[in-house]
Amino acid sequence: MTDQIRRQLPIVGVAKVSHGRDRMTCLYRCGNACDHAVPNGSDNQYFGDLVKNEVTRRGVLRTGAVGAVALGLGSAGVLSATPAFAATEPAPALPLVEEFGTAEAATTVLTFKAVAPNRVDALVVPNGYDHSVVIRWGDPVVPGAPKFDVRNQSLAAQLKQFGYNNDFVAVLPLDKKGNRALLVCNHEYTNEDLMFPNFVSQDALTVEQVKIAMAAHGMSVVEIERVGKTGQYTLVTSGARPYNRRLTTLQTHFRLTGPAAGSALLKTAADPTGTDVIGTMNNCAGGVTPWGTILSGEENFNQYFVGAETSTGDAKTRFSRYGIDTVNRYPSGSRKWERADERFDLTKNPNEANRFGWVVEFDPFTPGSTPRKHTAMGRFKHEGANIIKSRDAKAVAYMGDDERFDYLYKFVSDKKVDGRNTPEARKHNLTVLESGTLYVAKLGYTSATEIDGSGKLPTDGAFNGTGAWIPLVKGGRSMVDGMTVDEVLVFTRLAGDKVGATKMDRPEDVEPNPVNRKIYAALTNNTNRGVGTNPAADEANPRTNNKHGHILEITEDNDDHTGTTFTWRVPIVCGDPTDPATYFMGYDKTKVSPISCPDNVAFDGAGNLWISTDGNALGSNDGLFATAVEGSERGHLKQFLTVPYGAETCGPWISDDNKSVFVAVQHPGEIAGASVANPASNWPDGDFAKPGIAVTWSVWNKNIGA
Ligand code: FEO
Ligand code: CA
Ligand code: CA
Repeated sequence: MTDQIRRQLPIVGVAKVSHGRDRMTCLYRCGNACDHAVPNGSDNQYFGDLVKNEVTRRGVLRTGAVGAVALGLGSAGVLSATPAFAATEPAPALPLVEEFGTAEAATTVLTFKAVAPNRVDALVVPNGYDHSVVIRWGDPVVPGAPKFDVRNQSLAAQLKQFGYNNDFVAVLPLDKKGNRALLVCNHEYTNEDLMFPNFVSQDALTVEQVKIAMAAHGMSVVEIERVGKTGQYTLVTSGARPYNRRLTTLQTHFRLTGPAAGSALLKTAADPTGTDVIGTMNNCAGGVTPWGTILSGEENFNQYFVGAETSTGDAKTRFSRYGIDTVNRYPSGSRKWERADERFDLTKNPNEANRFGWVVEFDPFTPGSTPRKHTAMGRFKHEGANIIKSRDAKAVAYMGDDERFDYLYKFVSDKKVDGRNTPEARKHNLTVLESGTLYVAKLGYTSATEIDGSGKLPTDGAFNGTGAWIPLVKGGRSMVDGMTVDEVLVFTRLAGDKVGATKMDRPEDVEPNPVNRKIYAALTNNTNRGVGTNPAADEANPRTNNKHGHILEITEDNDDHTGTTFTWRVPIVCGDPTDPATYFMGYDKTKVSPISCPDNVAFDGAGNLWISTDGNALGSNDGLFATAVEGSERGHLKQFLTVPYGAETCGPWISDDNKSVFVAVQHPGEIAGASVANPASNWPDGDFAKPGIAVTWSVWNKNIGA
């Protein structure tokens, strides 16, 4: 291996929770979501009701078959009533590349030798590959950013430096060969105990430190350049760098668009227009539109708000359904942002939480452009959003709501995407996600008995699940009894409950495969499945106490992504392949890598499925995996790389030319008791842990995975 494994870490004593994740991760990233009751108060029908007993493995086998307008705010952000973006919106720039978001067609056969499971504190890549760090926490983003000094941090510095806990990554070429490109990423959350050398507790943070943490959330854009003719990229650190930018929770204005923009549900005292939100937060996964903008999912926004325990009636129901603490369960566990900005105190600003939980669209090619939050795409814990163009050129976005027993969604634009590379087309395309039909998924199946009267289960492939996309808002009208359009879009989870959507095992990244045009959803895990009074296993979520997760494959009927019916199957049931409850498209399991907790998916130009993991419940480091989904090698899943100790693998992003894969190493060394002085990981620089983005390439200039 070309990677230098620096040291084998002792296994640090870790306070484990039921699903194996470190408690620190749970507190900081999702507000201990697994310790809460499932925030799904509905008893809507789910197809599990049709299955009296846990679905067996046999059943599974058969199914399977710049400057944004940056205002210097005081201790509490104060908005003017006039949206700050109105007078300063620049005209959209025209990118040089015409179609984004998918790698060039390729014939890559995945011949790499799998990386073995390990617990080493290094990024480990296969023989014949190399890697380097492109950017890490504290590196300069905005020209003039001060040099990072962990012992001398400031808000002013963090606002210009790379943020913390990078998650989604996209690389958008600035020229036809991709020799220069924009790297865009999300900064999902912060670990203050791993950021500040003098950390004692969240309560003991200074207001300046709280603001530094707020500024370390958001997004970054940096210019990168290719090294020679290889797949390696490096950060551009000199010159004008006009695209380089930080989007933060503190300063960046976002404009709400679509049917619910301006709704009373979105108005606050500081923003009586209901259209002008300061900040984005807990941005998890995302996608790239065909016209070269970024989609970013606002996920676990609930944990940043306090004060809901005083709410009553509908307000309490709504807060509770979104996982906002209504019983003051974790008074010491909140992020304490209300100490720096009273927007996060719901007793003072009860609608502020409604202004988060959206899909953000951001144009990185237009410096100073105002990012937008699209209400037409619904509000929930958005993992991300990925678009495929329908045969009639509509933009169809697939989306997951990452919560146990929550739902899969899709959005179909009213407008068509204009495929021309002209200023007029770009201006039009920037409006495409502002109106459309929002659907939620209901998954069913035809029982074996119905297919085969003999009672024998049919052969692999003969048994497909069936499904329907249930409209929630269509033609500007609510399709949900008793809910207005605004209510459906702002409280989309409650709308899904009402129409009987199928309760899934934490839908994370949901992405169309541009080659076979099928949709792949990562269902991370659900240790509550079938436990107590919780919903039982069903065909689409086939295991009780689902520790390791699975992949769902959706095929739209007649290849019509605007349609309302589909079929589905479960091609991969994750875990240790020696576990009989796992399944890998029928492939010889002795040749398959163990995999646990799939989170993000991506596709190379050959349509191979790449999966990154978060929270490996098998005890080894998280990693990146790849498998073919068609042909004789389908199901031959292999581990391509592993990330350092305590980290999660995010991204991944495969370059347009298939020569590079970028991964975001999120929360390295996130182990209870670790600190700057006593780190559990010293990746990437040998001192203390810093989240960062790495690129991996073939030393023989082969396609990634070949
Ligand atoms: Fe932020 Fe669902 O992972
Ligand atoms: Ca994720
Ligand atoms: Ca993805």
